[in-house]
Amino acid sequence: MSTQQDREACQQVVDKVFQVLIDGSKQGYIGENISQLAHSLQAAAQAQEAHADSETVLAALLHDIGQFATGAEHKQMLCDAETLANPDGSSEAGKSGQKLSVGVSGHERIGAEYLRRLGFSEKIASLVEAHVAVKRYLTGKDSKYYDGLSNASKLSLKYQGGPFNQQQIEEFEKDPLYELKIKVRRWDDNAKIVGWDVPGLEAYRPMAIDHLVEQRQRTTTAS
Ligand SMILES: [Fe+2]
Repeated sequence: MSTQQDREACQQVVDKVFQVLIDGSKQGYIGENISQLAHSLQAAAQAQEAHADSETVLAALLHDIGQFATGAEHKQMLCDAETLANPDGSSEAGKSGQKLSVGVSGHERIGAEYLRRLGFSEKIASLVEAHVAVKRYLTGKDSKYYDGLSNASKLSLKYQGGPFNQQQIEEFEKDPLYELKIKVRRWDDNAKIVGWDVPGLEAYRPMAIDHLVEQRQRTTTAS
């Protein structure tokens, strides 16, 4: 594939991802008057303000992407990602004719898998996927964090395995991305401010396209 074709393919991926954010945002609100999209944009804006690198900014923007589709749409979302990233059927799954297994559950895992299949970096996918683990970590580490959670979030924590114990906390702190994962979670927690005017989705388009192009080039060079 030529560089130009690569770029066009990446533009299409970004079109699709942004459309998922826009469409999903019309359906539901996470509370008061903050739409899912506004929430994502506020998380990304905080990452930008903190001078985070572009992968972290994109992770903040896309951290809830798995929540933008309903359960029934998740399988389609992952299939769409596979087709979009590998239009010629050249993926491993495509080559072997395997049926895609959608053995992922939880919006953070769906979102991470969706982004991986679209060609976003492992760092972005890991930051997105860490959502629940960080909540378990922070509630285990800091009781004040637990007290600040909404009732729904406290309830879901039970089903997510509850707060991390000391051993799990120490294990989590060995993760080289653990500090970044916590930052993304904090930006997420603070991204619920009514009336906070932040840059729109289009502000992130060049960054997302550049990232995907870079990832493709890296994969091509490595193979
Ligand atoms: Fe969120």
